[in-house]
Amino acid sequence: MDSSPDYSRLIQSDSVHASLYTSQAVYREELEKIFYRGWVYVGHESEIPHPGDFVRRNIGEEPVILLRDRKGELRVLKNRCSHRANLICSDGKGNAKNFMCPYHGWVFSLDGQLLDVPYPQGFSRDKSESGLVALPLVDSYQGFVFASFNAGAGTLDAHLGNAKQVIDRAVAMSPVGRIKLTAGWVKHKFYANWKMLPENDTDGYHVNFVHASFAKVLRSHYDDAALQAEEDLESETIDWGNGHTELNLGPSYKNEMVWLGYTDASRFPGYVAALEQAYGHGRAHETLRAGPPHTVIFPNLFIAEMNIVMFEPRGPNECVQWHTPMLLEGVSDDLNERILRQCEAALGPAGFLLADDGTISERQQIALKSGNAWLDISRGEQREKEGPGDIRVGHVTDETTNRGFWKHYRRLLSR
Ligand code: FES
Ligand SMILES: [Fe+2]
Repeated sequence: MDSSPDYSRLIQSDSVHASLYTSQAVYREELEKIFYRGWVYVGHESEIPHPGDFVRRNIGEEPVILLRDRKGELRVLKNRCSHRANLICSDGKGNAKNFMCPYHGWVFSLDGQLLDVPYPQGFSRDKSESGLVALPLVDSYQGFVFASFNAGAGTLDAHLGNAKQVIDRAVAMSPVGRIKLTAGWVKHKFYANWKMLPENDTDGYHVNFVHASFAKVLRSHYDDAALQAEEDLESETIDWGNGHTELNLGPSYKNEMVWLGYTDASRFPGYVAALEQAYGHGRAHETLRAGPPHTVIFPNLFIAEMNIVMFEPRGPNECVQWHTPMLLEGVSDDLNERILRQCEAALGPAGFLLADDGTISERQQIALKSGNAWLDISRGEQREKEGPGDIRVGHVTDETTNRGFWKHYRRLLSR
């Protein structure tokens, strides 16, 4: 049998080996040690507000159903029949009283118990031992639901660590502190390793190159945040620990609501008033100026300013990215419509950013195909600063975020 790859050799503090993006053995270990042993993002409570509501998701390559049971509790069930392992649920979302397997009609309750076996005389087993597998850990933070197959994964609180304050900043964009993911999801397949998405999403160095055509034709908040001369850029890269990373663009913004494409907040007086009422004048206007976070929550959630993105691995050379706008509770339909339009323009099928980032990731996968190269992630090592609570802060063009991702990855894969 092949021995496990030597991660302490393949992941150095300033470089990583190409095989980490191409090897089937590495990929299998990632599924085991990251996606099946740790906490993984599965959905948002606003997607399943009522008892019986469910959405179909994947954790790693395992199909699961995230649902709200009759009592209103969140549950994640394996989407696999306990009879001969057919997919129980094929709808992307819906409301159900129970789930019936389409193959031989076994019926399961919302908490996974086997309720009925058609033609029962031939089935001599105890029904209570043939339920659907329920994931032992399901928890949510600010409505973001995470789950784990591993009862020993520790608490969600410990997994999120410093990143909780980043999630707090996202939901504080709403005057009632709640977001809703109700616009539906768009999925894109990339012929690239899944790790290229979190790595690229908090890489502030590529914006001037990969998105050059966008930057030429449109004025956007990235002009201030990522497109100035090196010494004029005030944005930051942050390694929050546990693989969570951020491009902190807020320090570059001079005016309120530039993050939504405006030069001031006068277009939305109701929103300004509601934020002031909820959080006080000072904090409300700081939120209006600094905007939402641009942050990756390890391993598969990207809070992409006013968008929510999920990553799904599909083998070493393929992944799927899901996205939806981060709509706000307690604001006008006009504002949510503007958020939806920005989401379409950035990440939609004809969006400005998605095709650029997808293409650059696929080019990288082609160039790495031999699995025999080293990637340099040393940029900014010499000027990175240590922040409170062990966080690392770098210049927006620095690879502080890549190093943060890989440091955590190495810890998990070396176990
Ligand atoms: S496989 Fe589900 S009832 Fe047979
Ligand atoms: Fe990009």
